[in-house]
Amino acid sequence: MSATALRSGRAGALTRQDLGRTVRLGGWVHRVRDLGGLVFADLRDLAGLVQLSFDPRWSSPEVMRAAARLGTECVVLVEGLVAQRPEPATDQSMGSRDVEVQVTALRVVGQASTPAIPVARNEGEELPAEELRLRHRVLDLRRPELQKNLVLRHHLLQRARQTLTGLGFLEIETPILTRPTPEGARDYLVPSRVHPGEFYALPQSPQIYKQLLMVAGYDRYFQIARCFRDEDLRADRQPEFTQIDLEASFVSAEDVQEVVEQVLVELWQLAGHEVPVPFVRLAWRDAMERFGVDKPDLRFDLELKDWTALADDTVAPFVRDAISGGGRLRGIVVPDGALSRKELDALGVVAKASGAGGLIWARRTDTGWEGQGVKAVGTAMLDGTGGGVGCTVLAVTGPDRVTSPALSGVRLALSRRPGFVMAREHAFCWVVDFPLFELDPGSGSHVPAHHPFTAPHPDDVALLETAPERCRAQHYDAVYNGNELGSGSIRITDIAVQGTIFRLLGLEHDEAQRRFGFLLDGLAAGAPPHGGFALGFDRIAMLLAGAPSLRDVIAFPKTTAARALFEGAPTPVGRAELEALGIRVARAEREQPV
Ligand code: AMO
Repeated sequence: MSATALRSGRAGALTRQDLGRTVRLGGWVHRVRDLGGLVFADLRDLAGLVQLSFDPRWSSPEVMRAAARLGTECVVLVEGLVAQRPEPATDQSMGSRDVEVQVTALRVVGQASTPAIPVARNEGEELPAEELRLRHRVLDLRRPELQKNLVLRHHLLQRARQTLTGLGFLEIETPILTRPTPEGARDYLVPSRVHPGEFYALPQSPQIYKQLLMVAGYDRYFQIARCFRDEDLRADRQPEFTQIDLEASFVSAEDVQEVVEQVLVELWQLAGHEVPVPFVRLAWRDAMERFGVDKPDLRFDLELKDWTALADDTVAPFVRDAISGGGRLRGIVVPDGALSRKELDALGVVAKASGAGGLIWARRTDTGWEGQGVKAVGTAMLDGTGGGVGCTVLAVTGPDRVTSPALSGVRLALSRRPGFVMAREHAFCWVVDFPLFELDPGSGSHVPAHHPFTAPHPDDVALLETAPERCRAQHYDAVYNGNELGSGSIRITDIAVQGTIFRLLGLEHDEAQRRFGFLLDGLAAGAPPHGGFALGFDRIAMLLAGAPSLRDVIAFPKTTAARALFEGAPTPVGRAELEALGIRVARAEREQPV
């Protein structure tokens, strides 16, 4: 220990190996117990906790007096001897459990006002409301759980960097003040002061820049990229988030997938999980057919079945009408389906939330089928499902856009029943061959299923002119336990094809030139075949930390209403500042919910 160092190491890292050593520590006072003549305090730092023991046998009267005045969350420097702890630690969660420090010197170097939210919690004690915690983020960030998450996040990022660097990828930064790059959300705009009336956009992703880097010859690029999207937020979305973004030239889709698999294997390994590769590949159409969703949770089976052909003359009119209207009768056989009425009702609510008229159900007992489904679809159809004694058949009718999400929701709800056993813990898959376009339900026009630079499937290029909605894309998603971890594709390098796509999206030549001229010029300058991928890094960190929300793995996150509660952003700006930017605010919205 140097004579001038404020501390000799971290408090939470002390072990029995340190017994008998004199140490200097710095940290926050987690808890204090004043037993009259003796004072015990838990000292906390990034490595965890250690007990400080103040006792007249080794602490001077002055140190004893200072110890008796210690308040929680103040910052102290202490010096003392590492000794065997007389009783085991009550907080077994982290830190130096077997040892304590017999304090001989104590200095309070950072006074703390009474904390607005407690950092130390007793076992089983609930966390304060999240809004309060977000307002007092600095205190919340002291919580060992969040500290563990951010430490894990750091290690994951370093591992991703090392892995990609090891595979020959170059880390190149692309601009934050950019032209708009479409990823399906609204842009955050930044006004230019020197060019009044003109705006930069914050990047929704580095998509166009990474493609231009390929054109420029940097054939393996990656970036830990901050992305900004003004979109409706959910627990697994933030307006500002981080991607592990990569692109490579002279590659096939499988080459890109192999690189992504290597990154994911490394990240999961770091978190203590062995993951077999290659991942299962599932065509988008099959994923929708078998699981009703493009990010299927493959930890369990409960696959969707099409029973339309089993619907005979005896089915109820509502089933017959749905089928004659172009819909299907689809469902799930739950083998050990002892579902209570309450559970069936709850599943019915799930199905209805996706637009289904209701959930048809019937269970097979020793004596035959029972339940409302018998009347709806008849016993012959129920026999046709192949469900054995003890099973429950669940079904819905309607167009796929209703039955797919309804049954996907039911399938997931079934997997969350208490006692449900997953067949496997980690289920990765590639979902491939997505459609190139989706039809916008509002306008009926084509919109890109991903982004407009995705190459069509080589077998489907002719469909661009005849039936674009049937055209598949060279687009692939990485899916893990029902979560989309990332997306990527082989890109369009043929300007004529890119022009056709823009036209199908309703972008005329001049407009396409105005918005994406810099990309089109790049493609015209000699573009190698290339493709890439972006992993949602916050989502990965959340899943590997076992955290319920992205906010638990981001140091200073936004709320679901895109507010930063701690620093108070966004915020109105003064008239003078707006004038300098040439901006006038027409209408100030009333205070929004947090
Ligand atoms: P995409 O838009 O699918 O693809 O984004 C890739 C991954 O980023 C994560 N993600 C988000 N994470 C947190 N908050 C958000 N608001 C958010 N939005 C997306 C998801 C998603 O799978 N340029 C393409 C990639 C490519 O084609 O190479 C892109 O950005 O995990």
